[in-house]
Amino acid sequence: MSKPPASPAFVQQLNFLGRDASNESAALQAAFSLGLFGQLSAGPGAWPLSLDSLAEHLGANRRGVRAILEPLVGLGFVLFEEGQGYLLAEDTAAFLADAAFRARLRAMLEWWHPVAKLPEAVRTGAAVDGRDLLGWFRALFLEPSPPVPNARAEEFFDRYARNFARTQALVTAAELGLLARLVETATPRDVLAAELKVHPEGLGVLLGVLASLGVAREEAGSWSFTEAAARMLDATSLPYFQRALPATMAYWEAFGHLGEAVREQRFRLDLRDPETARRIYQENASRISGIFGSHLRLSRKAAELVGQMRSLAGARVLDVGTGSGVWGAAFGLASPTTHVTYLDSVHVLDAVRPHLTKLKLEARSRLWEGDCLSVDYGEAEYDVILLPQIIPALPPEALPGFFAKLARALKPGGLLLISGYLLTDRRDGPLDALYFALRRYVSNEGDVLSLPEFQALLTPVGLKSARAFDMPIQQVVVAHRGDVAWPEVAAVPAA
Ligand SMILES: C[S@@+](CC[C@H](N)C(=O)[O-])C[C@H]1O[C@@H](n2cnc3c(N)ncnc32)[C@H](O)[C@@H]1O
Repeated sequence: MSKPPASPAFVQQLNFLGRDASNESAALQAAFSLGLFGQLSAGPGAWPLSLDSLAEHLGANRRGVRAILEPLVGLGFVLFEEGQGYLLAEDTAAFLADAAFRARLRAMLEWWHPVAKLPEAVRTGAAVDGRDLLGWFRALFLEPSPPVPNARAEEFFDRYARNFARTQALVTAAELGLLARLVETATPRDVLAAELKVHPEGLGVLLGVLASLGVAREEAGSWSFTEAAARMLDATSLPYFQRALPATMAYWEAFGHLGEAVREQRFRLDLRDPETARRIYQENASRISGIFGSHLRLSRKAAELVGQMRSLAGARVLDVGTGSGVWGAAFGLASPTTHVTYLDSVHVLDAVRPHLTKLKLEARSRLWEGDCLSVDYGEAEYDVILLPQIIPALPPEALPGFFAKLARALKPGGLLLISGYLLTDRRDGPLDALYFALRRYVSNEGDVLSLPEFQALLTPVGLKSARAFDMPIQQVVVAHRGDVAWPEVAAVPAA
């Protein structure tokens, strides 16, 4: 008998905890430590402050301030009045006026870096670097909390102080082999501790935190996954879930210095440094290679969409920032005569070759190593140019010149297809896209854009017709010169 499907809300919540929850805490902590809330006024007669003024008052970088503000607007703690600026929500102002609550928030700021040592604390059951990390987790998750000024204060505190700790609990449970062990059978804590070579009390705290997340439960003295967790995670799906966690940890140190990045433009993880970019993109290419099959199902949907707009027979396709090659390969598979060029840096292209061999696409493929911002794309060379998840990796100031070169390289009737996150027109959501954008900021990469922002870049280079389409998980923006008919499928309505 097949097991019932996992609850979408549980899956979403666990994925959020694995990927974005620590980004959310970092945004709130950076806003608090930079004094951002204190700059905004609230209530009747309050005056919205423009982004430029706010950045100037904070002595900080405009884009950095925006990157931490946008999630706060998405969460409703800050309000945005179009064309005017930012205000503090009245209930936010009320709880931040409470000195005891502010002191509690301040005390949390020093825990970001120690929290990353949770695996060591669970192994030893002792303090780490003189800090009682297990006691801190116990107080946050397993003991009654001090009273807070209002209900919104509780939500703010939870996101600010507990979310990054939750992420770390999942990372630790994965790293110590606890999640893999919970998939198997219900087991008493001390037996688990002996098997995993960790301290029983340290493990007890970790299990308690997992229980508070609805992931683990104790019954008759034995620990196992809850029913909800067991529906989502089994021996096959657990590795996919766990794969996102090292990427989250790759940004941990940088997020611990988010305030510094916003104020001083100093980036602890700087992807504009060629050596760092090589390391991170290589790891990324091997990680996404591991999920090539499921990715391919998504990229083939985009190829189908393009196939409804123009024939792909004999088409020349360029995949810029190809990564594992999964987008270009989808177009290679769309017709037996399509030819695809895969462009990326040399160490990433190594990950593409095995996929092309397996899919028997080698004869109709060209691997092109180069920097997409400086290579010469020529004129009227390609029928379709793909930009899958590459825009957020590029410096925003380089985009006008980049799009001009790509537009020139498109043949008449050619299509440009951009995939990835798309923000609402007001840039106040979706939240996961805003956290993704914040990660791009903290690693000195590019930005996530809205459709009007894309249109403002594409129209001047002649790609005057652009629409967004919903794909499973993410969205695509398709643009052309106005010389291709749009398909029947509905475009995403303006947000
Ligand atoms: C987030 S990954 C996306 C990979 C793939 N397109 C996908 O959707 O799965 C971004 C890719 O862009 C590549 N990239 C970043 N900057 C680049 C540049 N200046 N020139 C060429 N490739 C670049 C990286 O090496 C990386 O493989």
